[in-house]
Amino acid sequence: MTTTVTPPKYDVRDLGLAVAGKQRIEWAGREMPVLRSIQDRFAEEKPLAGIRISACCHVTTETAHLAIALKNGGADALLIASNPLSTQDDVAASLVADHGIPVYALKGEDNTTYHRHVETALDHRPNIIIDDGSDVVATLVKERQPQLSDIIGTTEETTTGIVRLRAMFKDGVLSFPAMNVNDADTKHFFDNRYGTGQSTLDGIIRATNMLLAGKNIVVAGYGWCGKGTALRARGLGGNVVVTEIDPTRAIEAVMDGFRVMPMAEAAAIGDLFITVTGNKHVIRPEHFAVMKDGAMVCNSGHFDIEIDLKSLGAEATEIKDVRNFTQEYKLKSGKSIVVLGEGRLINLAAAEGHPSAVMDMSFANQALACEYLVKNQGKLEPGLHSIPEVVDKEIARLKLAAMGIAIDSLTPEQEIYINSWTMGT
Ligand code: ADE
Repeated sequence: MTTTVTPPKYDVRDLGLAVAGKQRIEWAGREMPVLRSIQDRFAEEKPLAGIRISACCHVTTETAHLAIALKNGGADALLIASNPLSTQDDVAASLVADHGIPVYALKGEDNTTYHRHVETALDHRPNIIIDDGSDVVATLVKERQPQLSDIIGTTEETTTGIVRLRAMFKDGVLSFPAMNVNDADTKHFFDNRYGTGQSTLDGIIRATNMLLAGKNIVVAGYGWCGKGTALRARGLGGNVVVTEIDPTRAIEAVMDGFRVMPMAEAAAIGDLFITVTGNKHVIRPEHFAVMKDGAMVCNSGHFDIEIDLKSLGAEATEIKDVRNFTQEYKLKSGKSIVVLGEGRLINLAAAEGHPSAVMDMSFANQALACEYLVKNQGKLEPGLHSIPEVVDKEIARLKLAAMGIAIDSLTPEQEIYINSWTMGT
């Protein structure tokens, strides 16, 4: 049976793309059994009834399933893009046309449009903000103080966003609870590591069709995203070099079998550079100056600030589109540097972001974090809150069950042993 949905207000590329979007959303759903079980429960229990939610996420097939879960739960949910290049226009169209969810997101939108959509998310007067990088929360705190009384809380799924929320809390401006989805085990162990790892290489390959085997691949940053990226780059035959500023992570990279050196040294030997640090200007003029002719640079960190493209642009005599998401900067020195995805998240700009199987757990955390905020409304202190361990473990259990994998459980004797300190040698 087909149901007709009255489209809400929206700003998407073309509603005619909805047919393709619907098909792709359904395909992603095959790998998202945990979120599907939440969608089904939410449809029955309506735990988000009457709650206005503004979600700022990459508008992908996976995010579509989160939006559907929120709607099933009774929320009045609105979705905007968390990055100007990551929107899948067909998905945005299908969410509007097939699900009646207001979406404001266009692939390739300019910064003005991006910020207008952030304002739209706040005009929705949300009770909960689902954020990806913390732009909506930062705008709320800076510019919309009167709306703070509407807020029950926020949920944040990126390392970058958590760093910003911590800074807000330290400055005394975070006056509501923030659920730290990023640090749930069922999020960062899989999404940041395997999701970013695979999709970053996927984006690079789709953009360039380059052979990675035998190339010197420099990965800047050895957090969870960097670990996954380095692992997959090595798996494809790359000679991987890691750069770090944290001594412990640097040792970890060494013991994982990677060469570790400062960017000043790595710059001269790299064929491909991937930044995943969350910090700005990790690759800057002194590094471009020593790079090989034709070296490629890209970013898989949240914001497009890791590569100093402004300085590179100032050195360029010509910037030429050579393939989709691939630009060659011809420099005054006579050398070329190739920039992928305009320095924005290459995995979402040139590929489709993290695969559905990992987003299943990330978005299960997001949906359950919203439910937790509503259930505990008025009881949670302002500041960051972990996803409760029982929730994290339940998501892992559901995922394992969906994968058809059984595990052991403690025997009564082991249960006693593991909870006691009296039994030694
Ligand atoms: N972040 C990284 N990959 C993503 C995806 N596929 N969907 C939504 N957000 C993402």
